[in-house]
Amino acid sequence: MPDDYFGEEVAAHYDDPDGSEEFEPGAIDATVQFLADLAGDGSALELGVGTGRIALPLQERGVAVQGIDLSASMVAQLRSKPGGDTIPVAIGDFASTRVDAVFKVVYLVFNTIGNLTSQDEQVECFRNAARHLAPGGFFVIEVNVPELRRLPPGETVKAFAVTSTHLGFDEFDVADQGLVSHHWMLLDGRWEARSIPFRYVWPAELDLMARIAGLRLRERWSGWRREPFTSDSTKHVSVWEKPGSVAQ
Ligand SMILES: C[S@@+](CC[C@H](N)C(=O)[O-])C[C@H]1O[C@@H](n2cnc3c(N)ncnc32)[C@H](O)[C@@H]1O
Repeated sequence: MPDDYFGEEVAAHYDDPDGSEEFEPGAIDATVQFLADLAGDGSALELGVGTGRIALPLQERGVAVQGIDLSASMVAQLRSKPGGDTIPVAIGDFASTRVDAVFKVVYLVFNTIGNLTSQDEQVECFRNAARHLAPGGFFVIEVNVPELRRLPPGETVKAFAVTSTHLGFDEFDVADQGLVSHHWMLLDGRWEARSIPFRYVWPAELDLMARIAGLRLRERWSGWRREPFTSDSTKHVSVWEKPGSVAQ
């Protein structure tokens, strides 16, 4: 099982971020609308469901949602919310954990594919997603485009948050295609430090992983409102399809 970087301390403050746009109602609405459109009258599985930031409003929108997550602390936060006990969650690694159902949509948002820090694990994640899709179903990933082009020449560190309560820096290791996100956060009057390892991954490599898993690219956008994906996009929302007739 991979290390759990979302223990009690992180989980307790997860839904209370400092200016992170992912938690703004408009951003959540756009994500939920996109996923609900794909799901139609089918169901959805969230890999890394966490505290239900997306799963809960998606279920409220009428899509039956299940989840997989390795952090019992994050899932405890989900359970403490209204409706949080209505979403079945399997505790385990989303690269290998199976639930006994197939879905119209499997989704993995907010850069979470990068929490799998080897290529093998990321390929296994695609295979696991494909296994849980009905024919005609969709696997959706939201992840940053690696920011190597935006690093100052010769530098390996880039700031992603600089506020009075949160300092965040990504430290890149190009040889290993890795990065470590370092956070310093002011929590309850004390500065807390934590560092989380990621494997950054390019869209083309994800497309190859999808092919290995028997999926094919259907659409790629730079955001949940279907903004065009271009050379300047800093992130993408990609949808791969499992061939076959449309899932019921
Ligand atoms: C950034 S949070 C995202 C949570 C939620 N999807 C959201 O959008 O708010 C990443 C979540 O993925 C979970 N996670 C990370 N790696 C995992 C793995 N290999 N297997 C299962 N869960 C994992 C963490 O425990 C955490 O809940």
